[in-house]
Amino acid sequence: MTTTTLEPETAQRHDIKDLALSPQGRKQIDWADRDMPVLRAIRERFEREQPFKGLKVVSCNHITKETANLCRTLKAGGADSILIASNPLSTQDDVAASLVVDFGIPVFGIKGEDAATYTRHVNLALDFQPNVIIDDGSDVVATLVQHRSELIPHVLGSTEETTTGIVRLKAMVADGKLPWPAIAVNDAQTKHLFDNRYGTGQSTLDGIIRATNVLIAGKNVVVAGYGWCGKGCAMRARGLGANVIVTEIDPIKALEAVMDGFRVMPMAEAAPLGDIFVTVTGNRHVIDKHHFAVMRDGAMVCNSGHFDIELNLVSLTEMATSRNPIRPFMEGFTLADGRQIFVLGEGRLINLAAAEGHPASVMDMSFANQALAVEYLVKNKGTLTNQVYTLPVEVDHTIARLKLQSMGISVDTLTPEMVAYQASWSEGT
Ligand code: ADE
Repeated sequence: MTTTTLEPETAQRHDIKDLALSPQGRKQIDWADRDMPVLRAIRERFEREQPFKGLKVVSCNHITKETANLCRTLKAGGADSILIASNPLSTQDDVAASLVVDFGIPVFGIKGEDAATYTRHVNLALDFQPNVIIDDGSDVVATLVQHRSELIPHVLGSTEETTTGIVRLKAMVADGKLPWPAIAVNDAQTKHLFDNRYGTGQSTLDGIIRATNVLIAGKNVVVAGYGWCGKGCAMRARGLGANVIVTEIDPIKALEAVMDGFRVMPMAEAAPLGDIFVTVTGNRHVIDKHHFAVMRDGAMVCNSGHFDIELNLVSLTEMATSRNPIRPFMEGFTLADGRQIFVLGEGRLINLAAAEGHPASVMDMSFANQALAVEYLVKNKGTLTNQVYTLPVEVDHTIARLKLQSMGISVDTLTPEMVAYQASWSEGT
């Protein structure tokens, strides 16, 4: 693919569903902002300090009320803030409208857009010639490096939100193809320990319930993958009364799942047992043709991993004699023997397709990390190499402290006696 780069002044300003949706979007953004005190404190500092004056920051994120508050924080810091959808099904169209109308932020994303529109939107955002990229899945970084390489000299660095995107960035480093320093925001403790676990846990169950309205209590819920997202899904499914089965390939994580009290087995054994299946592995065809072949009539399958590759829906489509949309984000596939398998959210992130993603309170910390990661890239311009970096632990501690403070919780500090004890080695039994 070749694309001509426009001068930023002539770049298209938005491509969204309907500007008239802005009043409702504005209410959503303000509602989320109430639960984002850490990001708000950062925004107030940025307003005073203007760290991003003259910089263009393109964010490729799920277009949600929480992301809106990140984009306005960047703008408050002086940036030209531009937003594109990081997934065809996750856009909240009212939020997109408000960002354009109320905040003057160019937005490219329409809920339900097709693959061609998604790619066109990525390229429209790149027409702004970004200096910093906030990515969620590394699609913008990969597109720029592969197809718009004339823009590389403008970019001082990028940040990445997801585990999946970080895997891609590290593969780029191994290939010698990463042209700037990148910050792995997901690796911050105040990101993955909370967003991946409590955020994905709650929003995934929320998505399944909104899509199906089935009772979770008493169901066999199969969770594929026991990383932080899988841990959250398993924990919340159990909390709602499900019998949870975990599948894993990593022996340590499998052992953790066993000792957390879950049944652990290969997917081939879990397939005939499950009522509801959730994939959160980041890998391809975790639920494959031979698994669909042995599932119960009425089994529901969905994915909460970043890309829609975890369910082999091509095989399921070939196996099906008919397909029948039942409700929004739920489609029945009838197999030759009469069994029906229900696919939720087209195999895309169920928590963002059928629900609203993670709640604001947890995105507060994720997006505080994003805002501070952009500041870190700007402040350290010229001193970082083309590697994948984790933010300094002090940033994590600052975010955790601000979050605790906003909840009215104070914690202990080390006494001088404790500090001295930790620094000494001579005292023992
Ligand atoms: N990823 C998961 N939940 C999200 C949200 N609410 N906003 C942006 N990205 C998300």
